[in-house]
Amino acid sequence: MFNIQQKFFGLDISDFSIKIVQLKKTKEKFDISACDQIDLKPGIIDNGVIKDEEKVKEKIKKLINNCRFGKITSDNVVACLPETKTFIKLIEIENSNEKDIDSHDSLNSIIIKEAEKHIPLPIQESYIDWQIIEKDKDALTVLIGAAYKKITEQYAKILADLNLTILALEIEEVAIARAILPEERMPNPEKNQGTKVILDIGASRSSFTAYDTNTILFTISLPISGKKMTESIAKSLNISYDEAEKKKIKCNLNSKSKRNIKARSVIIKILSEFANYVKKAIIFHNNHFYDHDPINQILLTGGMSNMPGIASLLAEKLNNQVDIANSLNSINKTEKIIDNYSKNYDQSASFTTAIGLALRNYIIEE
Ligand SMILES: Nc1ncnc2c1ncn2[C@@H]1O[C@H](COP(=O)(O)OP(=O)(O)OP(=O)(O)O)[C@@H](O)[C@H]1O
Ligand SMILES: [Mg+2]
Repeated sequence: MFNIQQKFFGLDISDFSIKIVQLKKTKEKFDISACDQIDLKPGIIDNGVIKDEEKVKEKIKKLINNCRFGKITSDNVVACLPETKTFIKLIEIENSNEKDIDSHDSLNSIIIKEAEKHIPLPIQESYIDWQIIEKDKDALTVLIGAAYKKITEQYAKILADLNLTILALEIEEVAIARAILPEERMPNPEKNQGTKVILDIGASRSSFTAYDTNTILFTISLPISGKKMTESIAKSLNISYDEAEKKKIKCNLNSKSKRNIKARSVIIKILSEFANYVKKAIIFHNNHFYDHDPINQILLTGGMSNMPGIASLLAEKLNNQVDIANSLNSINKTEKIIDNYSKNYDQSASFTTAIGLALRNYIIEE
């Protein structure tokens, strides 16, 4: 197991940006001791595949050595793998007498055999990992994870080339859940909190994660992103991508004013399509995880969750409670990522993954 005194930082590598966060443990929560972000031009990373390795290395090096807020003081890294190249699901395995679940090797082969029935990635080309969530006389409940070997090896090689020591390469949604859900920090199996959904809407992709009583149930990628939304605005209004991006960022869905009305209607149309995908994922949950509680809260994170009015619009479309997640749930109240950058909007939602990665070893140990 890791030593919690060991320093490390979280590194979130996405198609259009790389983010870095280092935390410092205080009595109860954490201070952000370093954080920064660097944008990437399109094509450097495409759908999680690093196309220009030298460029990515150069950008990571720059983030580490010239961090604009605070100082990165470690060579140990917890990074995440691209969401579209990984898979995670809670499965149940019948615990029959014939199964030898007491020896680790035998248990491993039972779980891998069962996991293969669920994993949509090519098995020979994937790494599979698992964690027992619950064990009783009738069944084993196991969280299975998988990631493309090629991608995992590419990310590992890049980090090793930078002389970094990799403490973990995580599935992104695990890091996100850790950053925003208090029960991840203080697991409480007794308390039934209902099933929650996390919707992460970023620049290049979005994801749906169902979570119940201290574990992820499953995640699904959804075909909507901040970039696609900007492209649709640009096309509909016949304006440049940059102008469309500005209009999108300024958009307030609660506004009744005629200004920006065209961009607003494009956004509402896309969010309605998005809500339909979310509804389908909720149906999947209800059909496959019917022994879990119904979904009683939807939490939004990722840069798109900054859009004023997005939570109430989705709440109406989904007929459920929708709230903006608190990415700084584990961070001391005085910290705000807006202060670190002095930009005009709070970037906390964009830093959710990086914060979750930076929390990993502390929370695993406690
Ligand atoms: N106020 C806002 N209104 C609408 N969209 C916003 C707002 N602020 C940021 N965004 C959008 O959020 C997106 C960036 O989100 P985020 O930082 O979570 O993405 P990312 O982590 O770089 O990408 P990904 O995780 O999808 O690969 C951009 O598309 C940006 O336009
Ligand atoms: Mg992201």
